Amino acid sequence: MDILITGGCGFIGTNLVNHLLTQPEVERVRTLDDYVTGRRREVPHARVEEIEGDLRNYDDVLRATEGVDAVVHLGALPSVPRSIKDPFSTNAVNVDGTLHVLEAARVTGVQHVSVASSSSVYGANPALPKTESLATLPLSPYAVTKLATEAYTNAYSTSYGLNTIAFRFFNVFGPLQRADHVYAAVIPKFLLALKNNEPLTVFGDGEQSRDFTSIHAVTDAITKAALRTVTCGTPVNLAFGTRTSLNGVIALLQELHNRPIKVEYVEPRQGDVKHSQASSELLSSLLPDVVQPDFVHALKEVYDWYMGS
Ligand SMILES: NC(=O)c1ccc[n+]([C@@H]2O[C@H](COP(=O)([O-])OP(=O)(O)OC[C@H]3O[C@@H](n4cnc5c(N)ncnc54)[C@H](O)[C@@H]3O)[C@@H](O)[C@H]2O)c1
Repeated sequence: MDILITGGCGFIGTNLVNHLLTQPEVERVRTLDDYVTGRRREVPHARVEEIEGDLRNYDDVLRATEGVDAVVHLGALPSVPRSIKDPFSTNAVNVDGTLHVLEAARVTGVQHVSVASSSSVYGANPALPKTESLATLPLSPYAVTKLATEAYTNAYSTSYGLNTIAFRFFNVFGPLQRADHVYAAVIPKFLLALKNNEPLTVFGDGEQSRDFTSIHAVTDAITKAALRTVTCGTPVNLAFGTRTSLNGVIALLQELHNRPIKVEYVEPRQGDVKHSQASSELLSSLLPDVVQPDFVHALKEVYDWYMGS
């Protein structure tokens, strides 16, 4: 099987490429990326083809899609604050880009398409855990683009019979996640601060909680969905129903770190939700053998990776 990964040089994409290369069924992996946040592979691999291109350009997407059996669409501008500052760019990449990917998959006869949505679509809906049938109440332009992503994906399934699945990722963390840009996610930001002996910045009181999901579970689920052509008519939460506060993460990091950790609490950030926790029932019914690695173990892995890198 040959697989295209859009955004395949980003955090989740690079981990996914590495995981796919361990699968005997996968012959070649192709990535489409414009390297806005992603990085080129340092060491070329005989089974990996990197295509430089822009999701906003349909011809780039079509060229990258020709000849592949499956597509994993991860490419996006994945930041809430960025989308608030510049909604047009986020919309162009995330919404037009998704439409280009789905259309290219349709016209080239791709067998399976997985797309990346986000828990941010639940937005202002306070219900916990987040079951997929809950009303979506996006709080940011980014969340709207992810809602459009999954809606377009479902529409391509019902209108054209494309085999699709849209995963709602929660807070994914793991090695290779970048901390060196203003829109970085919280765990890599904390780890970079620790590495640089700087205080950890927390927006709000630190009691906000997230369903932190190990990258290994995410790459495992996406891979199994592609290899088994798993489809679903509704979006699927890709998380396991755990919930850890930022103060809880800091307490665990304190146990791993030999020196005292300083924390600075600042004003809450616009567009951020207070609590997030998935219902994982649908995921378990579709992919029962995808399991969440132990959180403390996964946090130690990523801590060791940051401190060593
Ligand atoms: N990491 C998370 O916790 C999380 C949570 C929810 C949803 N997601 C979604 O998962 C996907 C992957 O996220 P990630 O954390 O790996 O982010 P990332 O920024 O590391 O990866 C995104 C990739 O898309 C590429 N890209 C951006 N604009 C592009 C364009 N116009 N053309 C081609 N490539 C482009 C970037 O260069 C990058 O390699 C995104 O769709 C994101 O919205 C991630």
